[in-house]
Amino acid sequence: MNAPVIDLRSDTVTKPGAGMRQAMADAEVGDDVYGEDPTVNRLEQRVAELLGQEAALFTPTGSMANQLGVRLVAPVGTELLCDSLAHVVRAELGAHAAVGGVTTRTWSSNHGRLDAEQVLAMVERSTSPYFVSTAAVTVEDTHNFGGGTVQPAAEVRALRKATRDLDVALHLDGARLWNSHVVTGLPLSELAGEFDTVSVCLSKGLGAPVGSVLASSADRIAAARIWRKRLGGGMRQAGVLAAAGLYALDHNIARLADDHSRARRLAEACADAQPGCVDPAEVETNIVAVRVADPPGRRCAGRAARRGRDPLRHPSRRRRRGRRARGTRPRRRRPYPLAPRAVSRWGPPACGRAAAAAGGPRLPAPAGRRRRGPAARRTARSPGAGARRR
Ligand SMILES: Cc1ncc(COP(=O)(O)O)c(C=O)c1O
Repeated sequence: MNAPVIDLRSDTVTKPGAGMRQAMADAEVGDDVYGEDPTVNRLEQRVAELLGQEAALFTPTGSMANQLGVRLVAPVGTELLCDSLAHVVRAELGAHAAVGGVTTRTWSSNHGRLDAEQVLAMVERSTSPYFVSTAAVTVEDTHNFGGGTVQPAAEVRALRKATRDLDVALHLDGARLWNSHVVTGLPLSELAGEFDTVSVCLSKGLGAPVGSVLASSADRIAAARIWRKRLGGGMRQAGVLAAAGLYALDHNIARLADDHSRARRLAEACADAQPGCVDPAEVETNIVAVRVADPPGRRCAGRAARRGRDPLRHPSRRRRRGRRARGTRPRRRRPYPLAPRAVSRWGPPACGRAAAAAGGPRLPAPAGRRRRGPAARRTARSPGAGARRR
């Protein structure tokens, strides 16, 4: 019998259950590009209310919601500040620069935790022709690559107050804001209401197959609706997807607490099996980041990266040698022996230093046999050598 496999790669692998599938099948739909899908409209209104914002827009992905959110507050040629592990800078494939025309500057953080003072020291409100002006800051709550970290509410409040005075906008990447809400017990409107733009995901741990929502002021959301269509994100009878989102909000937020306690148990089991690989006390929500002690694969990949190679496409020399030893790849034969011999079985060599040593003529060696090494490189690089080659 096959042992059951529990896929722990990510909360993005959660699947819709029977109740959610039924809700999708029963959804009332219309053309959402015309604003005529009643289920999408209901979802947008519901999320806006939950987050303490005026309006909201359903998007196919969290990456698109983030792109739109940043676009609304950071014009072309300005900069976005975020921490060096933020999803917007690490995992959206440069979209904010490639599509939005915005540069990013990052700060280093402790597991993605916000430190308002550190961020404020980086803000550049420049009107000079020298420095890029900071238009917005992104905060990620919970923090994915930080290990599911919940943002400290006091730091967020301090950042909000100061950035408002500086006229710098705040975008919240709240893909997992639901988890923060469950851990802190704070209302979603308190966690998100003070941000200028907020994105949340329905497909991370909540079981919806796709879907995110961007929330902001009514004016900004009207502009985002145009940009969503421009980016190819206008959806027609999207109510079947929005129905999954509504079902997730009704049934699956509270049960995130189960994920959190299971994650903690998993961390404890890992720490028992391999002490030091994870600190269970660091596991705040549903993400467990396990330190793997220098595995050979990572060493190989690191070496390949240092040499500017793709580790998947260019086997390292050691792996190649291993293959040869196993006989899975034919050994390439060298055209000449490496060291010239004065006299071989076939008689004295006809050229080169060895030939001279053997008393023969000192003709230049054929191209394939020319000496390698620093001396040879010096000769090849000299202007004379270049001129001769030409
Ligand atoms: C923090 C965060 N923001 C945004 C996204 C993007 O979501 P999507 O995969 O739907 O584009 C993710 C995805 O995992 C995420 O972890």
